[in-house]
Amino acid sequence: MAKAPTDKHSIATRLVSGGRRPEWTGPVVNPPVWRASTHLYPDMAALKDGPRRNEDGRFFYGRRGAPTQWALADALTEIEPGAAGTILYPSGVAALAGALMAVLKAGDVLLITDNAYDPTRAMGLGLLTDFGVETRFFDPLDPAAFEAAICERSRAVLLEAPGSLTMEMQDVPALAAIARARGLVSILDNTWASPLGFPALAHGVDIAVMSLSKHVGGHSDLMMGSAAAGEAHYALLRKRAQQLGQVVSPDDAALALRGLRTLGIRLRQESLSALEIAEWLRSRPEVAQVLCPMLPGAPGYEIWRRDFTGGCGLFSFVFKGGDAASRARFVDALQLFGIGYSWGGYESLVVPVDPAPIRSVTPWPPRDWAPADRFGLRLSIGLEDPADLIADLDRAFAAL
Ligand SMILES: Cc1ncc(COP(=O)(O)O)c(C=O)c1O
Repeated sequence: MAKAPTDKHSIATRLVSGGRRPEWTGPVVNPPVWRASTHLYPDMAALKDGPRRNEDGRFFYGRRGAPTQWALADALTEIEPGAAGTILYPSGVAALAGALMAVLKAGDVLLITDNAYDPTRAMGLGLLTDFGVETRFFDPLDPAAFEAAICERSRAVLLEAPGSLTMEMQDVPALAAIARARGLVSILDNTWASPLGFPALAHGVDIAVMSLSKHVGGHSDLMMGSAAAGEAHYALLRKRAQQLGQVVSPDDAALALRGLRTLGIRLRQESLSALEIAEWLRSRPEVAQVLCPMLPGAPGYEIWRRDFTGGCGLFSFVFKGGDAASRARFVDALQLFGIGYSWGGYESLVVPVDPAPIRSVTPWPPRDWAPADRFGLRLSIGLEDPADLIADLDRAFAAL
């Protein structure tokens, strides 16, 4: 969805005003849910004209959306400095696939950071292999290794900062600059920080992807994804999304818009709570590592402080020694943390962190850790009182 002309308000204000064009909202505050497959034309001349005028915000047929989806895409574009438009997809994975399929063709090489979300890796090794694209992985923390991995056929690089399990923080501006200089398209999975904490396009990234199922939805009740890009890549994204028949439900778009309005305040509160809990975990004798880039002294903190203006409630920690059984006892003793995939909802969640089998070029745990320190957990901190969450974790440590 292409950007509407706007004046330059702060992000907080844009979160409130984005997408609320009077022609979409009418006299009410929120754009209503336009449920539509068929769009009707006033006459034959208009029908004939329809296919020729393939533009954002123009009625044609349900697969190109209607004002509810347009309003969400417009609002997301509003909060992504440098974006010419945003495409919506039915999940974050679909958004990653849509971005990759927009820029890659048979014979190309895709470079993926070794800390990437597992289905992202699987997409490179599965779907894209079937379409003739070769995927190679590189050390997330070593820009020189990335540059060395580039070959004549390299066409795109997929980044994730921080990695959503190991929280390894990449130097995105450096990697994006190398990519641009060498003619690669850079795609960042920016679900963790969102443009509120890290305006990716403004830092040199070409395509910024988010799973909206996480913080934008914010209430663990919808699946959606987005990809935003500047002029150079937006048209490509849009063309490929139309060819692939991508569309999201207007009901879900309305839910995502509702979530978006409170994104800033939720991210701020979660981040504060996560920091408090991360600091407390660091003081525990049972904990070997706290992997929270917002925490001073933690891995990735220097890059986070340099490049980011915010974060979220997602971080990991690693037990000192122990085994899978003691970790399971810990998780089962928790009462306030749901056990489940995903993150970014209003409620706290926990899952094990076991990335070792999926790493390709860099080991996990890292070489400089004690080998016994490898049983980790990822926490998604929600909006509960952090004191209650700490008391819950404290109880679980007693069960180890
Ligand atoms: C970092 C990251 N990117 C993308 C996704 C995929 O999003 P979705 O579940 O909406 O497909 C996830 C989901 O867990 C994720 O953690």
